[in-house]
Amino acid sequence: MTLNITLNRTIDDSYPIHIGPLSLIEFNGKVAILTNPKIAGLHLQTLLGQLRAKEVYIITIPDGEQYKNWESIEFILDRMFDHRLNRKSLLIAFGGGVIGDMGGFASSLYNRGIDFIQIPTTLLSQVDASVGGKTGINNKYGKNLIGAFHQPRAVHIDPSFLSTLPSREFGAGVAEIVKMAVTFNRDFFEWLENNNLQHGDNLITAITKAVETKARVVEEDEKEQGLRAALNYGHTFGHVIENETKYETYLHGECVAIGMVMANELAVVSGLMNSDEAMRVKNLLAKYDLPLSYTIVDVEKFYQAFFLDKKSADSAITFILPRGIGDVEITDSIEPAIVKKVLSTFSAIDGGLF
Ligand code: GLY
Repeated sequence: MTLNITLNRTIDDSYPIHIGPLSLIEFNGKVAILTNPKIAGLHLQTLLGQLRAKEVYIITIPDGEQYKNWESIEFILDRMFDHRLNRKSLLIAFGGGVIGDMGGFASSLYNRGIDFIQIPTTLLSQVDASVGGKTGINNKYGKNLIGAFHQPRAVHIDPSFLSTLPSREFGAGVAEIVKMAVTFNRDFFEWLENNNLQHGDNLITAITKAVETKARVVEEDEKEQGLRAALNYGHTFGHVIENETKYETYLHGECVAIGMVMANELAVVSGLMNSDEAMRVKNLLAKYDLPLSYTIVDVEKFYQAFFLDKKSADSAITFILPRGIGDVEITDSIEPAIVKKVLSTFSAIDGGLF
């Protein structure tokens, strides 16, 4: 006998993304703010000044990608139980991508899922990670391999939090902005070539453009069945670099920058992109002092690590390759020999073809 279960999905997971000075957040219940000691020291008073709730608890975890793991999730969940949060409670993720990904994941697990709000404080999380509901952690097999799609109830992007951002982290965020432009918006890329993000209102314009791009992609393909995979441009290579360097040498966005350079070289060798355009991307990234090369010690090991990438099916690796600036191809038909040839150009110092 077979019985059917009919689920009438009427849930609307739409949410606002506010860009500008942090507005008042009112909540009729318990709120846990997940943050790290650095952000708490710099900005917690600003958030508390804009928060009205019945009870507010602060949960802090150490800063850094190396803490994005099960141990931290257990710690966060334990604190949520200690504070007796319930299904109607709210978690606010207040920090960079690590805090956002873990706060989102912990809130997807607690009591089988409670609401959360993203208040990103780094450029990278403001332009990418805080929007779209990807939450999760890393493990020894790779980056973001465990997690859930759990959309926030709202995202509050206040660029004034960036005034205390170290310059390396600024560059790491720019890498994700460049990613949005190369994959989906040629005009935006040209605008980025001509406007310095450290001047005037240019940063707010770039954040808005990047978030608009991301929002449209997520609306079309929330669960990454197709189009959204394009946002992993640079990440297929970048995740391997992050894992090889144990998340200690580079910031995530720095690995994405190197990964975009590698992806572009593969795109050039595959006849998808011309070398002048690959050079324009490299030049734009260089303006923000991003690392653009990485010495691959063992090409075969690097290649095998691609198979842990979530986008790759059992026997083929999925690459996100630009078909020129502003257009992208998601492909699993690049010959292994070509990939390894491109990787081998990175096995010398100052690697790469272009
Ligand atoms: N950061 C890529 C995505 O959200 O799909």
